[in-house]
Amino acid sequence: MMSQSNPIQLCRELSLQVEQEDSIKPEDLRIKYLGKNGLFKKLSALIKEVPADQKKLFGQKLNQLKNKIEEKINDLENQRQTDQAKIDLTLPGKKRPVGHLHPISQAIEEISQIFEKIGFNRVRYPEVDFDYYVFEALNMPKDHPARDEWETFFVDTQPSEKLGKMVLTTHTSNGQIHEMERLNAQPPIRMINVSRTYRRQSDATHTQMFHQFEGLVIDKGINIQHLKGTLDYFAESFYGPGTKSRIRPFHFRFTEPSFEVDFSCHICGGTGKNCHFCKSGWHEVGGAGMVHPNVLRMGGIDPDIYTGFAFGWGVERTYTLKKGLNIDDIRLFYSSNVEFLEQF
Ligand code: DAH
Repeated sequence: MMSQSNPIQLCRELSLQVEQEDSIKPEDLRIKYLGKNGLFKKLSALIKEVPADQKKLFGQKLNQLKNKIEEKINDLENQRQTDQAKIDLTLPGKKRPVGHLHPISQAIEEISQIFEKIGFNRVRYPEVDFDYYVFEALNMPKDHPARDEWETFFVDTQPSEKLGKMVLTTHTSNGQIHEMERLNAQPPIRMINVSRTYRRQSDATHTQMFHQFEGLVIDKGINIQHLKGTLDYFAESFYGPGTKSRIRPFHFRFTEPSFEVDFSCHICGGTGKNCHFCKSGWHEVGGAGMVHPNVLRMGGIDPDIYTGFAFGWGVERTYTLKKGLNIDDIRLFYSSNVEFLEQF
């Protein structure tokens, strides 16, 4: 703009501009116009370009402009003082909202700590892993029908010759073989693996992404009593004193024998009488069993010397069974609904 107008016109334009400067601090206005490199200085320097017969007029315009700038600075200062007088210092301060961990992160922390207390070692293994770790090494050869139980997302990449296709992990059991490899097949192993898992499913009790935790204990002489004791300990620690665990015969390819794991219902105390929450006195949570000898072998461990137990299931489901939570749709956890999340 400056270069197209003559200096006298520029005085006028700058004066208009000054009038409109309402959202600037007075000290900044002074620097902008009257400072060493300010607009007023620059304009004054143009006197060289003004024809001799107009120099006087230009001088007058400059004077007027300078007065206007000073006036504006005064106005802004006065305005600030009146604004400050309006501030009521007796008002309470504004509280900034403080966030907290997502409820599922809180649950993961709690679960990990419960197991760490009795010597389990918290680990994490890949969420996107090879077929070998997720299925094959867990005693589920290629094309085995048991694989259908896990509604798997396959990743569209070049398969590895040795380890097969890549998948989004359908369970945290993939950590079992990783852990045996990490420890060079040298028990004792006491692993708690918590990770995201994925399945093609979505309804009130399933989300495509969810979390599981997986326990694995391998040593000499490990038996079902150790498993049952660990489940009881977890039940009481997580759900409160008096909560019991129950194991029922089941079938998994990677454990023998295999069980389904239930916890007693805290509403009816495990009686099931007139209880709308459980109906039977028990809540099924997940699977467990004694590690199958083939799985130990795949991890390089001799099943004639060592035995182990394993268990694993969903964090979300485990958490919603807690006393007083009453969450009937686990999709809420991932709905980004702050009103819901703030309750935890
Ligand atoms: N991985 C199984 C699932 O997601 C659950 C499971 C069953 C884990 C038995 C185990 C186990 O460690 O021993 O359905």
